[in-house]
Amino acid sequence: MKKLSLCLAIAAAAWTAAAQPAGRQPFNEGWTFEKDGVRKTLDLPHDWGVDGTFRQEYPGESGKLAWWGKASYTKTLEISEEDLRKDIDLEIDGAMSHATVSVNGTDLGGWPYGYASFAVRLNPALKPGVNEIQVRLDNPEESSRWYPGGGIYRNVWLTRTEKTAVAHWGTYVTTDIRNIRKVENFTADAEVRLDGTLKHAGEPVVGVISTRIIRREKQRTGGFIDRVLAETRNVERLEDGRTYTQTFDMENVSLWDPEYPQMYLARTVVEPLDGPKDVYETPFAFRQAEWRADGFYLNGEKTFLKGVCLHHDAGALGAVWNDDAWVRRLSMLKEMGCNAIRTSHNPPAPELLDLCDRMGFLVLDELTDTWTVPKKKHGYAELFDEWVEKDLVAMIHRDRNHPSVIAWSIGNECGEQGDSTKWWIPRQLTDICHREDPTRPTTAGNDNPWAASQGYAETIDVYGFNYKPHLYAEFVKNHPGQPVYGSETASCISSRGYYLFPVAEEKGKGWTLDAPFQVSSYDLYAPGWASKPDYEWEFEDVVPECAGEFVWTGYDYLGEPTPFNMDPSVLTNFHTEEEKEAFKKMVAGWGQTIAEVPLPSRSSYFGIMDLAGFPKDRFWLYQARWRPEKPLVHILPHWTWPGREGQVTPVHVYTTGDSAELLINGNSLGVKKKEGYRIRWDDVVYEPGSVKVVAYKDGKPWAEAETKTAGKPASASLEVDYAGKDLTFVTARILDGAGVVVPQAHNHLSFSVSGPGRMVATDAGDPTSHTPFHSPEIDAFNGLASVIIRRTGPGEITLSVSSPGLKGRKITLP
Ligand code: GAL
Repeated sequence: MKKLSLCLAIAAAAWTAAAQPAGRQPFNEGWTFEKDGVRKTLDLPHDWGVDGTFRQEYPGESGKLAWWGKASYTKTLEISEEDLRKDIDLEIDGAMSHATVSVNGTDLGGWPYGYASFAVRLNPALKPGVNEIQVRLDNPEESSRWYPGGGIYRNVWLTRTEKTAVAHWGTYVTTDIRNIRKVENFTADAEVRLDGTLKHAGEPVVGVISTRIIRREKQRTGGFIDRVLAETRNVERLEDGRTYTQTFDMENVSLWDPEYPQMYLARTVVEPLDGPKDVYETPFAFRQAEWRADGFYLNGEKTFLKGVCLHHDAGALGAVWNDDAWVRRLSMLKEMGCNAIRTSHNPPAPELLDLCDRMGFLVLDELTDTWTVPKKKHGYAELFDEWVEKDLVAMIHRDRNHPSVIAWSIGNECGEQGDSTKWWIPRQLTDICHREDPTRPTTAGNDNPWAASQGYAETIDVYGFNYKPHLYAEFVKNHPGQPVYGSETASCISSRGYYLFPVAEEKGKGWTLDAPFQVSSYDLYAPGWASKPDYEWEFEDVVPECAGEFVWTGYDYLGEPTPFNMDPSVLTNFHTEEEKEAFKKMVAGWGQTIAEVPLPSRSSYFGIMDLAGFPKDRFWLYQARWRPEKPLVHILPHWTWPGREGQVTPVHVYTTGDSAELLINGNSLGVKKKEGYRIRWDDVVYEPGSVKVVAYKDGKPWAEAETKTAGKPASASLEVDYAGKDLTFVTARILDGAGVVVPQAHNHLSFSVSGPGRMVATDAGDPTSHTPFHSPEIDAFNGLASVIIRRTGPGEITLSVSSPGLKGRKITLP
C-alpha cells in the first residue's frame, strides 16, 4: 500500500480544481427541484433516478429506475450593482439531459448532451436584487444502453469574472520535454508554452498578462508552500477573442507519472492598465506521452496500459458525482495495479480527471457511444449533426490540460465502421481533435473485424480493438507504424461470492436462466462476443506491440445486466444459432416475447468489483498479472458448503508465485505448477474445515492463504472501509461465532445513525436486488453489505446495525 498512500498524499497536496478563473464558486446548495408535480429542496449534484424505486417493469438495460422525464431546478441569486459590472456565468458540469438555463423567465442557453460541461452567461437577464435562476431538463426515454441518470448530477458553479479576463476554458498548456533523467523519479528540462484566449468587452485596451509557474511543496515543518518557479509578463492589446502565447524555460522539473503524479500550476493575471485584474489558474504537469508502433511510452519508458473501462455511475449514488466515492473506487483500482481508465462512453466529470491527475492514472477521454447510426431511438445519433463538433471541442478545451489524458476516443463500436461511405465521420472527428490539440492522438473502440482490415483503421491514429485479441498480430503486420491496443477486453461476468457446480469450462455455462440470476465466480464465463481474462492475455503475451488493455469493466454498473438482459439483445449472449433458437422456443413456450420475460436483474455482472465496491475473485487475478512483484495468493471458492460433503468442488488459485501446494485440513493434495494464469485443482472433494495454499516462487515459499468453513451466522460487524471528507463507507459483515465471514449469508440488516450524519445509501452488490438504495434496511449479499453515511456537521456520529437473531454492533465514525 506504500505507493497508494504516496499517491493519496500527493493528491491531498495538489490544488483541487481544474483550469478555472479564481472567481468560481460552488453553486450547489438549496435548489428547488420540481418533477411530476412534486417539489422539494435539495443540494446538487442530484439524480432523480436513484431517488426512486426499482420497478420490475422498467428496462433492466438501463437499471430498472425511472431516470427519464421532465424536471426543473430553481434557485435565487442576489446580485448587487457592483456584481453586474462583472460577467456572471453559470457553469454546469453535467445535466441529464437537454438542459435549458433561464434567468427571470428568459431562456439564455443550454446544452442537450447530458455528459457535456457547459457555461451560460447570465448577464443579459440579470437585474440588481433577487433573480430566479432555473434549469429545465427533458430527459428522453430510450436514449441509453446503460443507466444514464436524470438531473443535474454533477457540480454547478457560479463564476464571476472581470470583463477583461481569460476566456472560458481559455488556456492550453503544452510542454516540450528535454534531457529526461531518472534517479528516484523522473526529472527533465522543459519548455512550457501557454496559449491563452482573452475575453473583453468594448474597445481594445492595453494591459499586462502575467503568468507564474508554481509548484506546491511540502515543508519540513508540515503544511505546504507554493513556490514560484518562473514568471512571464506580456504587455498586450487586450481585445475579445485575442490569443496570446507565453513560454517558460525550466530546468529540473519533476515529470508526472502514475507512481509520482507531480502537478504544477500556471497562475495567470490579466490586468488592463486602468481596470481591475482577473486571475485564472491552470493545473498542468510535465510528461512525455508517446504512442509508438510498439506500444505506449511515458517519459521515454514503455508503459503497458493496465486499464479498465468505467461507466459514470457510482453504484448506489447513481450518476451523482462525489469525490469521496471516486477516491475510494480509484484507490481499489490502484491497489489492483490498474494504471489506466477509459471513460466509456462519454466525457467524465471533470473531477474524475483531477483525481486521475493527482492519483496517477492514464485516461482515454471518450466522446460518445454513437455517431449517426442509432443504437437507441433517442440516443446520440439524434444530436450528432448539430452537436458533435461542439461536444468534441467542449471536451477537448475542458480536458486538454490534464496530464492524465493520453488520447481522445471519438467513439465506441459505431455502426459506420461497416460502411466505407461514412468513414469521413471518424476522419473529420480526428481532424477536429488534431486542430484543437495537436499533442494527442485519436482512438476509438472498434468491434468490426472487416473494418480493421480495410481503410477504416487509418481514419483514427491509434487502433482500439473491442474483444478481438486474436487480431492484434495481424493488425501489427498489416498496419506497420499504427499503435494498437484492446479498448475493451474480457467482459468476463460473475456475481461476487456465487459459485455454480459442476464447474463447466464453456464460457456460456456459468449461469442458468432461472433463479438466483447470478453468474458463477470462477471467472471462466462470458457472453458470446467476450471471453475469460486469460484468453486476452494469451495474445497480449505474444504480441509485444499491443499497448495495453481496458477491461470491461472495473466496477459493476447500473443497467446492462448481461446475461439476464431481457431486451432482444439477450440473444447475443448465446453462442450458437441452435442455442438462440432453443432459447426463443423456450420463451415462446412461456407464452411470452423476450422483452416480456420478468427477469429481476438491474445492474451489470461485468465488474472486477461489484456495485457496492467489494472485490470479486477477479480482482486478485488481475492483481496477480498487473503487480507481479507483490507476494500474493488468492483461493476460490469459499469453503462453506453444507450439503456438498463428498462432492467435487474445484479449487482455483490466483498467485504471483509459479507453483503452489494445496492442503485440505492439513492433508496435501500436492504441488502444482501454474498453467496459463492460474493453478487449478479441479477434482477436490469437499470436506468442511480448512483449505490452505502455500505458493512458491523459484522454489522458495512466496505467499500463503487459508479459507475456513464458517458456522451459522452469529453477529453483524461494522468496519469503516473508507472515510472521506463528505462520505464514509462502512462495511457490514455477517460473522459466525468464531468471527469467520459467513459467505452465503443473506441476513436482513437494519442500520441507524445518530449524531451529525445522514444515511445516504445502502447496497450489498446483488445485481438482482430491488431494495431502494436509500433504504436503511437491506439483505446482506453473500455475507456483506455496504452503507454510506454523509457528515452533516461537526461532532460524533455513531452507526448501529441490527439483524434478527444476530448480535448487533455500534461504531463511532472517524
Ligand atoms: C461492448 C460495448 C460496451 C458493453 C460491452 C458489454 O460491445 O462497447 O458498451 O455493452 O459490450 O460486453
